[in-house]
Amino acid sequence: MGYDLKMRIWRGDESGGELTDYTVQVESGEVVLDAIHRLQATQAGDLAVRWNCKAGKCGSCSAEVNGRPRLMCMTRLSDFDETETITVTPMRTFPVVRDLVTDVSFNYEKAAELPAFAPPPRDADGKRRMMQVDVERGQEFRKCIECFLCQNTCHVVRDHEDNKPAFAGPRFFLRYAELDMHPLDTHDRRELAQGAAGLGMCNITKCCTEVCPENIKITDNAIIPMKERVIDRKFDPLVWLGNKIGIR
Ligand code: SF4
Ligand code: F3S
Ligand code: FES
Repeated sequence: MGYDLKMRIWRGDESGGELTDYTVQVESGEVVLDAIHRLQATQAGDLAVRWNCKAGKCGSCSAEVNGRPRLMCMTRLSDFDETETITVTPMRTFPVVRDLVTDVSFNYEKAAELPAFAPPPRDADGKRRMMQVDVERGQEFRKCIECFLCQNTCHVVRDHEDNKPAFAGPRFFLRYAELDMHPLDTHDRRELAQGAAGLGMCNITKCCTEVCPENIKITDNAIIPMKERVIDRKFDPLVWLGNKIGIR
């Protein structure tokens, strides 16, 4: 059944902007991104929005719907009352390019700081082997679609621009953990995670986990185990002795 949906959309650019009211014809089975597309087609042809797959897999359509970080293509209109005004604003943690599009290059800079997977030489038969349990552990981490909703939500950077240089954020703690738990990775990432990446600034509020559209248990399965690995290294008697005599 079709109905008139009231929407309030943030319009503007890096110099400022404001919420603009629209009324758009929608169908009850549609998602927020459908409504945005109909707005573009019928009354706001210059409305900027980033999207790609419309299937919750490319991570492009991240925004804040009624103040909650969401993928617009996975947010059903039927989740809201038909009389409710749906407000859509750009992700708050990243600089606005225009309207609903933000500049997420902060995340690409953090990705570039992370050392790549570094496997040892192959076995004599040219293969590399790992246990099935290790293969399965990594599967959850690789579900990440890089929507950056977790990065947008984390309070350490959401309202604290000054923390950004020292904090990689939950998406990259996930990547640190994935690689550090990988039995074939030879790089010890624990010092880097705790130091340059700012793992210690995370106080486990779990807001990142709550907004992840892939339902990755970022805090429980990546951040907390990574913090434990950092502690293990710190209290490793060999590391402690090495630090004392200045060889590690
Ligand atoms: Fe998005 Fe989840 Fe990946 Fe964060 S961990 S970028 S919320 S998919
Ligand atoms: Fe931020 Fe997630 Fe830690 S929201 S504080 S990275 S648990
Ligand atoms: Fe790809 Fe929404 S358009 S995740």
